[in-house]
Amino acid sequence: MSTIAPQSQPHAVIAPRPKGMLIDGQWVEAVSGQRFSVENPAKRTLIADVPRAAAADVDRAVAAAQKAQPAWAKVVPRERGKLLLKIAEAFEARVEEMARTIALETGNALRTQARGEARGAADIFRYFGGLAGELKGETIPLGEHVLSYTRREPLGVVGAIIPWNAPVLLGALKIAPALCAGNALVLKAAEDAPLGVLLMAEICQEFLPPGVLNVLTGFGVECGGPLANHPAIRKLSFTGSTEIGKVIMRAAAERIVPVSLELGGKSPSIVYPDADEDWVVEGIIAAMRFTRQSQSCTAGSRLFLHADIFDSFLAKLKAKTSALKLGDPLDEQSDIGTIINNKQFTKVCKYVEEGLSRADATLVMGGLPPKSGPLSEGYFAIPTIFADQSNDWRLAREEIFGPVLVAIRWTDEAEAIRMANDSHYGLAAYVWTHDIGSALRTAHAIESGWVQVNQGLGQSPGHSYGGYKQSGIGREFSLEGMLDSFTQRKNVTVNLNTPRRT
Ligand code: NAI
Ligand code: MG
Repeated sequence: MSTIAPQSQPHAVIAPRPKGMLIDGQWVEAVSGQRFSVENPAKRTLIADVPRAAAADVDRAVAAAQKAQPAWAKVVPRERGKLLLKIAEAFEARVEEMARTIALETGNALRTQARGEARGAADIFRYFGGLAGELKGETIPLGEHVLSYTRREPLGVVGAIIPWNAPVLLGALKIAPALCAGNALVLKAAEDAPLGVLLMAEICQEFLPPGVLNVLTGFGVECGGPLANHPAIRKLSFTGSTEIGKVIMRAAAERIVPVSLELGGKSPSIVYPDADEDWVVEGIIAAMRFTRQSQSCTAGSRLFLHADIFDSFLAKLKAKTSALKLGDPLDEQSDIGTIINNKQFTKVCKYVEEGLSRADATLVMGGLPPKSGPLSEGYFAIPTIFADQSNDWRLAREEIFGPVLVAIRWTDEAEAIRMANDSHYGLAAYVWTHDIGSALRTAHAIESGWVQVNQGLGQSPGHSYGGYKQSGIGREFSLEGMLDSFTQRKNVTVNLNTPRRT
């Protein structure tokens, strides 16, 4: 990856050049001096470059975190919380700048996605800032002569690795709970979306002691690898693909460190025959995250439609989805932006080609991206829907991470649930019906960690959010998530029955 001079592209939108990575309260270059470039996926132009961290930088960041953590753990929890609340306030003041940065580097549309992500990330700091007083232990009733209690202690230095699809929100979800609980953090941004995360680091650093938060920019094997394997890291928290989740878990196993994994999904939406209505169609579009190019681990990408409403529902879905406008992510008129990079774009196109070439799959709408015209300038993928009888082809089984929805017919509730659960993933699920009994029966039968009935919204702070099966381990979005993922319990038992000294 070569270092570029952004000025050499007169017509390109340029991001402000980041000051560097954050280590020990300082903005630094990589030890190697190397940088790598960041692309605007809507124009395929290079917009900035950032330090290219490797093992030596990981060592420096972990050493800084180790040095800072003991004093940070001794700060009274509610005082730590107040600092997070100050971060939230400073963040809220810069939401627009953050939203534009996110839109520019990820291709996520400003109006429908990036602004909401920036606001949501600020809110994560506000939420966890208010929870610092809740780092409580418990007392164990062992009898009058014993005092047995638990303390929630921080783990030490946490190593966190995040993806590019909602980089700032997912970064905030590591920083806020880890720091609230008294840990220090070394966070590696995704190579495709480091700019928003560096801006967030800048906002945070104004209020934090040096070394409590360290943010590295670098590649997976080169920077994420040494972080996952660093002997001084006491906890690993990873969001990304199931494939790399396994790599992280193996690294954790070597040193017996706890690990939280938020991984992929292939989530079902189950629509009952009584739900052939416009609001459900809109909910399916939201659940599919079409306006984030479906680059979401919770995308409801398998649509189980009851046979009685199959054709009429699909007709409505096609009409409403076709009305969504693809365009420059920074344009307020755009509903949908671009896929993150060429690799993911090519991958999505291959899935579409496979669908098109399969005889028994019906193309309802969409198809391959245009080869000419304004949309061919960027990695624009068109929302695509295939209707097919089966749940067992690749398009219905693999996480595409692009706007390709598969609609499958069902007649019997038990069969719909069986197909929904026939996946090695188990992250989200969506159930749509007016019949509350059917809805809850199905919600309870589905093997997913996060189920919504009659809505297709995103996660809210406080939700227990996380995966069943290969979609992950652990929860981080809530108070309980923070306690379980970012603290360790110590039990102290005191014998009160010692002989009286005379
Ligand atoms: P990835 O899982 O490879 O990358 C996520 C993060 O892990 C990045 O920061 C990357 O630098 C880091 N990483 C990669 N290899 C590593 C290694 N060996 N050791 C330590 N860290 C490493 O995801 P990628 O390649 O960007 O996307 C591939 C697929 O993964 C997507 O098509 C999608 O299916 C899935 N994915 C799922 C996400 C989710 O939120 N569930 C997010 C991003 C991708
Ligand atoms: Mg990868």
